[in-house]
Amino acid sequence: MNHDSISSTSARGTVRTLSQQEELPLLRDHLLRLDRTSRHDRFHGFIDDSFIRRYAERCANDGTVIIAYFEDGVVRGAAELHPPEQSPDAQPEIAFSVERSARRKGVGSTLFRKLIAEAHAKGYGSLRITTGAQNDAMRALATKFGAQLTFRHGESTGSIDLTERHKAEQVPAAASPAIAPVTPIAAARAIVDMNRAYWRMVMQMSGWGRAA
Ligand SMILES: CC(C)(COP(=O)(O)OP(=O)(O)OC[C@H]1O[C@@H](n2cnc3c(N)ncnc32)[C@H](O)[C@@H]1OP(=O)(O)O)[C@@H](O)C(=O)NCCC(=O)NCCS
Repeated sequence: MNHDSISSTSARGTVRTLSQQEELPLLRDHLLRLDRTSRHDRFHGFIDDSFIRRYAERCANDGTVIIAYFEDGVVRGAAELHPPEQSPDAQPEIAFSVERSARRKGVGSTLFRKLIAEAHAKGYGSLRITTGAQNDAMRALATKFGAQLTFRHGESTGSIDLTERHKAEQVPAAASPAIAPVTPIAAARAIVDMNRAYWRMVMQMSGWGRAA
């Protein structure tokens, strides 16, 4: 199994992809350890344990790639690359979570870099990220990796174009605005697409809308 240590940051752990079924408990327990605010940020308001358990189980069974950051054998951070089939426009969704004790040490950035390499390897052309409008940390992280975020109705959503050469950490954060100008029609379409994908996922997890 390929373990990469994080050498360029102050974090001391290692990063590798989880095996889907067998290592489900590692992802689940990491997500359950997130505090209330972090759960809210990560799941757009859904914070109860049963939702998180079902979510982790679903990830283990639907082809989601989980790249995990380990410290002493415990997963303290995760990047999720969801398969394009889950999205109405076939754009793979991505999401990140790092436990508070491991934040601001470059873990999120390392996970993002690995996730993009994985997406490249799969031949994906772009990725979608959605986060709360007040989530400065995620917006900073996404912007650092070239996401163009649009902001509406309390949420930021945006795409990362993988067809251009990826500019991770070569673009100073200050030179890359977090919120790009966007036409009202494009913004509305992005929100509608995002909401459709998100609610479809929630309904499927609730046992509704299998055919949605
Ligand atoms: C978002 C999150 C994954 C970032 O993880 P992290 O390990 O702290 O990220 P990094 O240390 O790699 O920091 C990435 C960049 O964001 C910036 N950043 C991190 N936290 C920040 C904050 N609270 N405010 C502003 N900028 C912040 C860092 O300065 C860094 O930029 P730099 O490299 O130019 O200095 C983490 O805060 C988290 O898990 N939050 C809760 C879950 C969540 O919100 N998920 C997003 C929904 S998909």
